[in-house]
Amino acid sequence: MTADKPFTQKIALITGAASGIGRATASRFAALGAAVIVCDVDEKGGAETVRLLQKTGAVAHFADCDVADAGAVAQLHDEIVSRFGRLDCAVNNAGIGGPWERFESYPHDGWERVLAVNLSGVFYCMQEQIKRMADSSGAIVNVSSIAGKRGLPNQAAYTASKHGVIGLTRVAAQEAARYNIRVNAVCPVYTHTPLFEPLIAGNPRRAEKMMERIPMRRFAQPQEIADTVIWLCSEQSGFITGQALNVDGGMTV
Ligand SMILES: NC(=O)c1ccc[n+]([C@@H]2O[C@H](COP(=O)([O-])OP(=O)(O)OC[C@H]3O[C@@H](n4cnc5c(N)ncnc54)[C@H](O)[C@@H]3O)[C@@H](O)[C@H]2O)c1
Repeated sequence: MTADKPFTQKIALITGAASGIGRATASRFAALGAAVIVCDVDEKGGAETVRLLQKTGAVAHFADCDVADAGAVAQLHDEIVSRFGRLDCAVNNAGIGGPWERFESYPHDGWERVLAVNLSGVFYCMQEQIKRMADSSGAIVNVSSIAGKRGLPNQAAYTASKHGVIGLTRVAAQEAARYNIRVNAVCPVYTHTPLFEPLIAGNPRRAEKMMERIPMRRFAQPQEIADTVIWLCSEQSGFITGQALNVDGGMTV
């Protein structure tokens, strides 16, 4: 391990790493020396992330896994340990936006899928991660949202799922502290990724109104969320656990 590569010999799993915040986080981990497992349901995007990481000389491996499938999640973690020997850092980032609908007509199938991916997915992953890290310590970061701190109209399922992620983070942090595993969450504001861009595409008025609510008057870049995740996985945050850190340009204050 060197000062410029503090994650050398660390094994990092990032779910939803085929795109957006997950890809940016995978790139940061790789640049800092970690071997990275890129998990996603998007095989093409995942392969592209792996190619980008390997181009820089990093060790990267794609794992095709739907985080909403508990059996597949258990198998993924078994494979990580048998291939790499252990797991040091896990970023539970995979997520979907789901329907944008009024509360009283919010579709039940959309509700169920959003909760399955965004909330159950994080739960299944953390169960496996805590088991795998219990002998050797570790850091887990869950990607929640400002929607985990406040209610976003027309996004009942997304808001509920992201509030739930913070709840799971707080419970797991207390239980896993005995194994020297830290568990935190990040809560990004609107971030320039393929999940967010369609919400403002061709609608500058909507983008302007969203930006007006952010004191810093801009949306986040994926790298800014990745840098916060990295910090929460690093020794520099060694006494921080159970927190849900806003990365929001001041929106929630
Ligand atoms: N972009 C934003 O404005 C914003 C703001 C706050 C929080 N977030 C959260 O950040 C996380 C990453 O979002 P993003 O903006 O980078 O979006 P994105 O769409 O670019 O990336 C999400 C990735 O998750 C993958 N994924 C979806 N369902 C999956 C599943 N069942 N199993 C495994 N992988 C799956 C997708 O294929 C995609 O690669 C999400 O949890 C999202 O809710 C995003």
